[in-house]
Amino acid sequence: MKKDIQIKMDFPGVQTFHTPEEINLIADAIRNPASLSMGQNLKQFESDFAKYLGVRYAFGVSSATAALDIAAIISGVKEGDEILLPAHTFTATALPFLRTRSKLVFVDIDPNTFLMDLEDLKTKITSKSKVVVPVHLYGAPINMTELVKIAKEHNLFVIEDCAQAPGAEWQGRKVGTFGDIGCFSFHGQKNITTLGEGGMIVTNNPDFEEKILGLRKIGSRPYKNQDKYWKPAMSNIVEAIPGKLPYNFALGEIQALAGDLILKRIDDINSKRKKYFDRINNELENYSELQFQKVPEKGLSAYHLLPARFDGHSYGKTRDDLIENLYEDFGIKCVVQYYPLYNYELFINNGYSKKDSYCPESDLFYDNMISFPFKSEMTDNEINYLISSIKSVIDQYRNNKN
Ligand SMILES: Cc1ncc(COP(=O)(O)O)c(C=O)c1O
Repeated sequence: MKKDIQIKMDFPGVQTFHTPEEINLIADAIRNPASLSMGQNLKQFESDFAKYLGVRYAFGVSSATAALDIAAIISGVKEGDEILLPAHTFTATALPFLRTRSKLVFVDIDPNTFLMDLEDLKTKITSKSKVVVPVHLYGAPINMTELVKIAKEHNLFVIEDCAQAPGAEWQGRKVGTFGDIGCFSFHGQKNITTLGEGGMIVTNNPDFEEKILGLRKIGSRPYKNQDKYWKPAMSNIVEAIPGKLPYNFALGEIQALAGDLILKRIDDINSKRKKYFDRINNELENYSELQFQKVPEKGLSAYHLLPARFDGHSYGKTRDDLIENLYEDFGIKCVVQYYPLYNYELFINNGYSKKDSYCPESDLFYDNMISFPFKSEMTDNEINYLISSIKSVIDQYRNNKN
């Protein structure tokens, strides 16, 4: 990296920071906890989150992966059942279904939205298909009207992976409320975080309430009529789904409070992120080599990340060149997001391959994608620097061609 670079932009490990007032409230809760687990803060966070989404039930869990694990169990999938999911997503979307020994069927992405292509989805449905997992990747919503229609026609259970999309909407309705179950992440790099790890599982189905409670925390539920004493302590334990032993996927009290505090300002956070995105997208309008994610017209994105496709073939430059030049010349660290899942060793070792999956757009996207640093608070200076550095690198490519 050049020595005289003034601004350095790392790829952020944390996207949303607490305000000083929030830190005071969190410190108070640490000083004087009524309880540190399964207490009032969790109840409040769950109730606020459910209200924010417009959904009946929300349950705090330790991660979105835990939420997806519970969802996979509740869907009732068995060994050999087929699960439809995008080839381009974070690995955690698929892991719970590997654990149930179901067969993953990878669906290609739409090259403009970078989201699961619903036409390709239709071609991959068979009589063994049981579950579809739409992923609102990078914060952008999938066309849920169409997806739910396809799922109904084929009797598919819908698990929405909203890990990256709290507050995103499809036609004015929040994602996570369309499917049978919705799963959210509060990992440290997400728009909302619960001090580094956490998640939420949501549903409108009253039948799932008992099942989720039974699986989430050792199968225990609070006693209803034993105020003076507990017999036995921590309540009776019930197997909510025969044959499925419970987990401990609970979300701690301080984490729940931290999440609830950020939830109160998530709309402001997401609208700031939209402003940053619009500005970067507009100012790079004449740089058609870069194509940012196209948010479907009827959708509102949570703008979780800033991925783009880069096409430098007319001057013989690749995405790797762009990453290298932004880092070496301007101190801007970018990343390449996800392999198509069938290219990870873990999936290859579990019997999946590129040859058997046929998702050419996902392969192409991996080869050409770049993800720029993006977070909830960006200064004008940072945004200007990012834009001018990208322009400068691409201008050089263009000029060297002539
Ligand atoms: C699309 C997607 N699904 C699932 C997960 C898993 O979330 P968690 O880290 O909370 O388990 C993530 C996290 O990065 C994600 O991006």
